[in-house]
Amino acid sequence: MIPVQQEALVTLFRRRVTVLSGITLLVGLAIAARDTAHHDNGLARTPPMGWNSWNHFGCNVSALLIRQVADAMAGNGMRDAGYQYVTIDDCWQVARDANGVIVADSARFPGGIKPLADYVHSKGLKFGIYTDAGRLTCQKRPGSYGHEEQDARTYAQWGVDYVKVDWCNAEGIDAPSQYAKIRDALLKSGRPIVYSICEWGSNRPWEWAPPVGNLWRTTDDITDRWSSVMAIVDLSSQYWHVAKPGAWNDPDMLEVGNGGMSRDEYRAHFSLWAIMAAPLVAGNDVRTMMDSTRMAAATRDILLNKEVIAVDQDSLGVQGTVVENWPPQLQVWMKPMADGSRAVLLLNRASVPTTITATWERVGLKTNQARVRDLWAHKDSSSVRERYNALVPSHGAVMLRVWPK
Ligand code: GAL
Repeated sequence: MIPVQQEALVTLFRRRVTVLSGITLLVGLAIAARDTAHHDNGLARTPPMGWNSWNHFGCNVSALLIRQVADAMAGNGMRDAGYQYVTIDDCWQVARDANGVIVADSARFPGGIKPLADYVHSKGLKFGIYTDAGRLTCQKRPGSYGHEEQDARTYAQWGVDYVKVDWCNAEGIDAPSQYAKIRDALLKSGRPIVYSICEWGSNRPWEWAPPVGNLWRTTDDITDRWSSVMAIVDLSSQYWHVAKPGAWNDPDMLEVGNGGMSRDEYRAHFSLWAIMAAPLVAGNDVRTMMDSTRMAAATRDILLNKEVIAVDQDSLGVQGTVVENWPPQLQVWMKPMADGSRAVLLLNRASVPTTITATWERVGLKTNQARVRDLWAHKDSSSVRERYNALVPSHGAVMLRVWPK
């Protein structure tokens, strides 16, 4: 339950944005959405954090890789920064046995999944796995359709803490009821398991998923390109009013560190995910993060920025949104925080460096003076009057936290 003052803050925030956008109805809808039930397994009270194999490794998964990833995350600061769930995506499964029990690829996962989950747990991390709500996964491995309870029981026996459920090969199946069936099977298994719905926004999950899953993808797959990040942000940000503790919009996993974007673009990508209260699921080869290359240093600097992570993980659980978008390409985003401060993002989508201004009025501060912390430069400005100007690199972001004084 959110304390009364915080609920009032959320309401105020929503009113403010509504006035700015001129859509009066949104306030009521936003509050109504926030008040609907969420998937009540007590998990994901803040957006889930972890790592997933798909963005970097695709089908090339193995027990050895997952062990090395768990070792890396326990040693490179990621676990201590909050990254928890180590998830094997598609391609770990090959068949069902005579009793219908799902079977892992024995060449890549000798000994099966249970010892691997035990190993990940022994590193102080949690273990996630992938399936599909349809007949086959996207890579044509057996899906969970018709085996929902059996699979949930198997996962619980293995010690699975997180399940991502995809939507390939599901023709003719009704998404809301099929995903609810899997929710019920997971609850019945008796093990607390974070439930990640991955139907790419194709059945308007923001309308039905909050009482079903802990997170739901809002878009098609991310790629390691700035244009992909911008397209996803523009789609996922539309459903900001639905997100709340236990139930999050998922704009897909991170590409930070995979090499396709500049340092500024990766910073902006990570900042946007944080201000949108998105799940922070790293998708890079974390085994190379301690290397002495510039790329590894930049990746560490981004993925381990605790001040930015704290914006994502704030207990108020509000998805931030755009409060100023003029001139086009220059945006100011705002996310209200539990302590009464505001996280503010100055985003430059244009192709030249530009100064962007956030006014205290636009970000909803009622005081003239504010303390400002730059969350990438790690610098404080103790008393800033009425507005903050920053030169923002092209395809880059300046992220601030602003406390009223
Ligand atoms: C897609 C999904 C990706 C990944 C892939 C595996 O449908 O969106 O995140 O899981 O399937 O085949």
